[in-house]
Amino acid sequence: MLTPDGRLAITDWTLSADKTHLNHGSYGAVPLLAQEMQQRLKAKMDANPCTWFMGQAVTLATTRAEIASFLRVEQDDLALVPNASAGVSTVYNSLPFGDGAEIVTTDHSYGAVLEGARRVAREHNGQVRVAVVPLEADAALTLELVMAQVNERTALIVIDQISSATARSFPIVEIARAAKALGVPLLVDGAHAPGALAEPVPDFEGFWVGNLHKFACAPRGTAAVVARGPLRAHLHPLIDSWGFPHSFPESFDHVGTQDITSWMSAKASFETIETRYGWDACRNYAGALAGYGQSIVQDAFTAMTGIDATVDVGMPVAHLRMIRLPQGLATTHEDSHAVRAFVSDALDFETAITTFGGNGYLRLSAHLYNTPGDYEAFAERAVPALVRLAQSH
Ligand SMILES: Cc1ncc(COP(=O)(O)O)c(C=O)c1O
Repeated sequence: MLTPDGRLAITDWTLSADKTHLNHGSYGAVPLLAQEMQQRLKAKMDANPCTWFMGQAVTLATTRAEIASFLRVEQDDLALVPNASAGVSTVYNSLPFGDGAEIVTTDHSYGAVLEGARRVAREHNGQVRVAVVPLEADAALTLELVMAQVNERTALIVIDQISSATARSFPIVEIARAAKALGVPLLVDGAHAPGALAEPVPDFEGFWVGNLHKFACAPRGTAAVVARGPLRAHLHPLIDSWGFPHSFPESFDHVGTQDITSWMSAKASFETIETRYGWDACRNYAGALAGYGQSIVQDAFTAMTGIDATVDVGMPVAHLRMIRLPQGLATTHEDSHAVRAFVSDALDFETAITTFGGNGYLRLSAHLYNTPGDYEAFAERAVPALVRLAQSH
């Protein structure tokens, strides 16, 4: 992908040249124009902190409108939080759980989100019910397995829109419909959805959280909670504030002495991509490139090991792709960290290495700044090294 003036798109970012960056999915990457806007805002804040902070709640309401417009949701349905974890904790800490409350989730759930659910369940003498969903499960089977865990004690269902370790989608609209029929609230973890999907917030009544600092490239620390329906009246910010007389979402616009320049600069990231490339073109490019990368890397593993590295993902995602690692690699969470560090330190590729069901996976991301050569280099240099590492295990 080229910039409008014909340079490689990576020149719009400030990623280091000593590594090949194939893991946008974990922490995103901020375009230079948005970094510069944030620096200008910080300078303004430091030039007169009094003026800045006295006007912050008004600024924040404007910023909320900009982010709501990007996510294509009503401004009054959205509040800003620092990250998806905070959004999930906001919902966990706000809902009125009764004694014995149960939370239903799946074995694809993000670790911090699952831990939060366990905490809430413990505090209410309840439990977390984890639906075991095979990686290859389609929408119908996934819906059936999730709803099979729901009973009269279920106080909340928590489902990934796009999972972290397994990079697959979940049938949100169908689960929302089934949950509503039973009167059970739904929380959707949409951490990976903003920017990656043209309509990132599914049309359902309940709670949705998403990170703007992943595919959407906003400065880190920018996330949203979308809340629709009567239960949103319970939502209160994680940190008590002067917003207390207001209801959702105005109650979230008073955040004390907090630097909100990342939220205010998110618009610069959205506009950089829209005006220089177009969001649809960005999504199409990332999806096609991730598909190419996946096919050459998995073919390289298969050719070297004789074992098929293809992963059957039930509801696959365009910009995040899964490849099976050679047997014995990253079979535990701890080992996945060690393999990731080896790939970064010794081979100079930034990747996500994940573990699911005792198997290790390589999760490849693609964004505008990636090129086919990035994945070709991985297939050529990193695949043989990982196969040798597996053989030495
Ligand atoms: C599915 C999912 N949920 C939640 C999170 C937490 O995001 P954050 O660390 O920004 O709170 C992540 C992070 O990668 C994620 O992948």
